[in-house]
Amino acid sequence: MSKLFEPITLRGMTARNRVWLAPMCQYSSVDGVPDDWHLVHLGARATGGFGLVMTEASAVVPEGRISPQDAGIWNDEQAEAWRRVVEFVHGQGAPIGAQLAHAGRKASTYRPWDPRTGTVPSVDGGWETVAPSDLPFEGYAAPAALTVDQVAEVVRAFAEAARRAVSVGFDTVEIHAAHGYLLHQFLSPLSNRRDDDYGGSFENRTRLVLEVVDAVRAELPDSAPLLVRISGTDWIDGGWDLEQSRRLGVLLKEHGVDLVDVSSGGNAPASIPLEPGYQVPLSAGVRAGGIATGAVGLITDPEQAEKILANGEADVVLLARAALREPAWPLRAAHELGVPFEDAPWPDQYLRGRWR
Ligand SMILES: Cc1cc2nc3c(=O)[nH]c(=O)nc-3n(C[C@H](O)[C@H](O)[C@H](O)COP(=O)(O)O)c2cc1C
Repeated sequence: MSKLFEPITLRGMTARNRVWLAPMCQYSSVDGVPDDWHLVHLGARATGGFGLVMTEASAVVPEGRISPQDAGIWNDEQAEAWRRVVEFVHGQGAPIGAQLAHAGRKASTYRPWDPRTGTVPSVDGGWETVAPSDLPFEGYAAPAALTVDQVAEVVRAFAEAARRAVSVGFDTVEIHAAHGYLLHQFLSPLSNRRDDDYGGSFENRTRLVLEVVDAVRAELPDSAPLLVRISGTDWIDGGWDLEQSRRLGVLLKEHGVDLVDVSSGGNAPASIPLEPGYQVPLSAGVRAGGIATGAVGLITDPEQAEKILANGEADVVLLARAALREPAWPLRAAHELGVPFEDAPWPDQYLRGRWR
């Protein structure tokens, strides 16, 4: 029996298998509105058999976009545009999650294939960024430190985005607290130098994430699971680390989070030991605290994915780049792991393409 193709239930949501599509920015929206590109991109991975499809980081406020071309969910027009994607993915038998994001001091950047680097100036559609403290990310403009009132507005924006996500049929939301974006900036002592209730101690640095979690949880029906993506470590001495992540995982569970999606890095340049499954030990470490986890990062091989689950290092795996190369990765994985095709997530339309 393949663990990868065993369904998983979180609250009232069941995913048909444990290989999920990781959130991936497409930098292809005008005014934050998802369009045909998003339908085809996410739709292809749903027909390709992913157990759950996650949207790209969708900004909860315009200034929370990584680039001016990011998707958003800060207004009803954007939410309604997501509805078509949600309905198509549901039609393929997969639940879909919205990743809710605020990029903080890493906002207002050029999309990756633009040759320009650094912060986009206002004449090119950029904006002034915000963060816990006025420390810039290397190579970017200095952000303005958020006031306490502005912090409360951030919490409200995440909650309103969650309400919109639920209203158009998303099954779950994932709060993006990883990769050096705003919530991670609050967690890490490298970027958070505040001396008020949101900075200093572990309790203070985790306060905003927990406030966002509580506000978002309150907008979700009890049946909808809540996911949080974190960076398990900054990979820098004196930064955010696995021990703090494990402690945060325990708190997240107490606050009604169902699964922590464990990535790493992104808050400051660091030397990262890139190798297959390099973030899996971080997932295992957070899971040891008692909360379900997702492992992500250089998971490319079906046997490798199967082993991560069999070893109890994660409850699900998420694939990003491998899914760009191969939208139907799960269908091949099912074949290679010996799952009978009747139990594999083949769309009827594609059955004639199955391996025999
Ligand atoms: C094109 C691209 C866009 C990405 N956008 C996001 C994003 O919106 N949110 C996020 O949390 N991670 C994002 N990531 C990171 C992936 O979700 C994933 O964590 C990372 O690529 C490592 O997994 P992989 O080795 O399977 O690619 C992105 C990665 C890629 C390649």
